[in-house]
Amino acid sequence: MPRNKISVIGAGNVGATAALRIAELNLGDIVLFDVVEGKPQGVALDISQCTALAGFQGTITGTNSDADMAGSDLVIITAGLPRKPGMTREQLLDVNAGIVGPVAKRVAEHSPDAILMVVTNPLDAMCYAAWTQSGLPKERVLGMAGVLDTSRFRLFAGRELGVAPEKIQALVLGSHGDEMVPVISAATVDGKPLTDMLEAEKIQTLVARTQNGGAEIVGLLKTGSAYYAPGFSIAEMADAILNDRKTLLPCSCLLQGEYGQNDVFMGVPAVLSRHGVEKIVEIMMSDEEKAAFDVAAEKIKALQAGLAS
Ligand code: LAC
Repeated sequence: MPRNKISVIGAGNVGATAALRIAELNLGDIVLFDVVEGKPQGVALDISQCTALAGFQGTITGTNSDADMAGSDLVIITAGLPRKPGMTREQLLDVNAGIVGPVAKRVAEHSPDAILMVVTNPLDAMCYAAWTQSGLPKERVLGMAGVLDTSRFRLFAGRELGVAPEKIQALVLGSHGDEMVPVISAATVDGKPLTDMLEAEKIQTLVARTQNGGAEIVGLLKTGSAYYAPGFSIAEMADAILNDRKTLLPCSCLLQGEYGQNDVFMGVPAVLSRHGVEKIVEIMMSDEEKAAFDVAAEKIKALQAGLAS
């Protein structure tokens, strides 16, 4: 089988970390693109110099030319501005839409068969911009957010309970914004309901810290936002897609009827395969959770409408 070609657009911290992790997982040959001359070449050379130590099987190339990404199997868009302390993700809408829209359009031209993973914020609205501008089928446009938000929740819950985060099963759905919905009614610890193991007040603290998970790091770093956990989350989805694993992961997908929502990209559990979004799975939520999910949908729809105007 020919090796997969994976293009990562944006050689900032998120793109570089994703490229490193994807190389470690031996998912294919990586092309790292950025508009800044020298930047993607430098990062790619640095990552390549791990090869003897890490046993990478694929190549990592840096470029400033779209042509080098032609024929990609998977394209990951990380390009755009990160938040500054005190900013919401939504405040990045206009500036990042001006980057993600045209980039997605060019992706469809140079890699018409690619699956497009969007990472730039505000995530769900950027997925919508990428989908409309690229004209790619909805199954091949998806966003990375839920894997990251869920990983944050699992860490905080694991620490609170004194158990390994891997033992916590959870899904954070809705928006990648303040309205994200950790589905507590379905969260388990080694198969036992989380609600049986922690009091409601404690769980609420974990939910709030998860919702604020990105901003907490922005506040500490002062310049830029998180990148290690985002990079690993991207690679987790890339692995599910390129290895056709059919893993159920929370990702931003276009809803057309699912969860009673239409024409909105938001975080839902999706089966990822070589086709992209193989299936959206509708899970049970409590009335309160479903109401919060619907609030998130309205917020995202307003952002999507702002893109069109
Ligand atoms: C975060 C940013 C990347 O959640 O949205 O850290």
